[in-house]
Amino acid sequence: MTSATGDRPTPATDAAEAQWWRDAVVYQIYVRSFADSDGDGIGDLPGITSRLDAIADLGVDAVWLTPFYVSPQNDGGYDVADYRDVDPLFGTLADAERLIERAHELDLRVIVDIVPNHTSVAHRWFVEAAATPPGDPAWDRYHVQPGTGPDGGQPPNDWVSVFGGPAWSPIVSRDGTPTGYWYLHLFDDSQPDLNWSHPDVAAEMAATLRFWFDRGVDGFRIDVAHGLVKADGYPSLASVGQVPEEGAVRLFEDVQPAPCWDQPEVHEIFRSWRQIADDYPEPRVFCGEVWVTTPARQAAYVRPDELHTVFNFDFLKVPWHAAGIREIVDGSLYANGLVGAPTTWVLSNHDVTRHASRFSDRPELALLRARAMTTFMLGLPGPAYLYQGEELGLPEVFNLPPESRADPIFFRTSGEQLGRDGCRVPLPWIADHPSYGFGPGAESWLPQPASWARFARDTSSREPGDRLDPESVPTLYRRLLAVRRSHPALGMGNFEPAAGTLAWVEVGDADVLCFDRMGPPNVRVVLNCGRREVTVPGDWRLIVASGGRRRQVRATEEGLSVPPDCAVWLEAAPNGELPT
Ligand code: GLC
Repeated sequence: MTSATGDRPTPATDAAEAQWWRDAVVYQIYVRSFADSDGDGIGDLPGITSRLDAIADLGVDAVWLTPFYVSPQNDGGYDVADYRDVDPLFGTLADAERLIERAHELDLRVIVDIVPNHTSVAHRWFVEAAATPPGDPAWDRYHVQPGTGPDGGQPPNDWVSVFGGPAWSPIVSRDGTPTGYWYLHLFDDSQPDLNWSHPDVAAEMAATLRFWFDRGVDGFRIDVAHGLVKADGYPSLASVGQVPEEGAVRLFEDVQPAPCWDQPEVHEIFRSWRQIADDYPEPRVFCGEVWVTTPARQAAYVRPDELHTVFNFDFLKVPWHAAGIREIVDGSLYANGLVGAPTTWVLSNHDVTRHASRFSDRPELALLRARAMTTFMLGLPGPAYLYQGEELGLPEVFNLPPESRADPIFFRTSGEQLGRDGCRVPLPWIADHPSYGFGPGAESWLPQPASWARFARDTSSREPGDRLDPESVPTLYRRLLAVRRSHPALGMGNFEPAAGTLAWVEVGDADVLCFDRMGPPNVRVVLNCGRREVTVPGDWRLIVASGGRRRQVRATEEGLSVPPDCAVWLEAAPNGELPT
């Protein structure tokens, strides 16, 4: 076995440093649920600052913080009332500055969220508009249209909200009488969509980028980046051949092309944002949330003068199936490669069922496969995002009591869709503590399952005697990240043109994926999605195995035998070339 070190190699050149985002591992912090410093049951910025060393210790390169701006919190802060101040629920501007400073001390870069598609109804612009009748210029910053039917009593068109129900809500006058006009909201009715053809909108967002860049943030994750521009005249979905299902909840890539998504003019916005980022001497970067239909459409957002990265969301939906996984990897690497951009991988985030619960109905098998899939993902070229708690092996919480739920999807579908609360339950830090150490007391805004003591960071990371438990999920993550840093074939510090490319290797089993990353030394990554062991012929040194004691890798006369539901990273041994 080789030993991996957690030391960050000194970047060879400033040019390499400027490219840090090309293979960074970014840890997503869902601010409400990470760590609570004041005992109100809601995570906050000082809580994050106090616990950042645990994240640095894991070996990631950056953190992404979900919105902590002033907001009525109708959609977990994605309904912003003031883009340039901190909600008192989460702290103060000084707390944000302290957090950024602490992260940088720990060698972590900081990415924050920007929500440019919509504001909250509590934003000063909407408050100003709502005090005037439709037709007043104050409404021009939003999308307002006359209704259809008698007295405009029906919505202007057939667009539907991503959260369920119609995408339009009536504007009523102060005495409650309908005006016959409607405003657009592709999400909750408390999140009115901004009209990007109004100059104030672009100016507000540019000022917001500069405000946070000036405070030292290293980048932005852009919410709903593909939605900012709507087609002129608001053509109906029916007119472009889409028939939205009654009560449909996902109008992202499932219903496209659509006049509200992925319009060509959106690219001009991101070209202007790139210029703002490039004005700074230190690298400032973007990662777009872009739900579109094909890798080629997605690659258009990462052309050299636009965003640095966009998430590839296909792993969020892929079943446990080798061919499907390979198709995603090939399609995305090819399309992004044509424009010189990396592919950004992700398995879990705050909007989807945790991947530790996705790959089987049987919890133990699902976790085993999640460990394997993470091992596979972190072996791929390009940056990767981790979602808080996945490094603890946290499962989805499916049985939250209805009265505790907060996601607008749950309410807008009358409970038919559970929504996203199940992946947002506050983190367990200390097994033997009323809120598992989430906060100083027992409060936690969503109830934590009684079974979560075993996932707490203090128990799952350490064995009695304070040694790392070699079997635990945190140990696996730590090891993967350390090896990724120390192996030039896999990541940080190596920006030679040929380094890190991927070459598939056929092992004669359709359920197994195998590729080499070019070093030197080369690294071979194997993922076994089948039901049988697979032998990788040759003489191998095992660097990491995802399965622990439950799925042991065996040396055989022919090579190394990799069990089902397992992934490994291998190095040619002792000093030979990788066999072909
Ligand atoms: C993005 C966010 C999601 C939010 C939505 C509306 O999809 O990830 O959490 O609800 O945008 O802002």
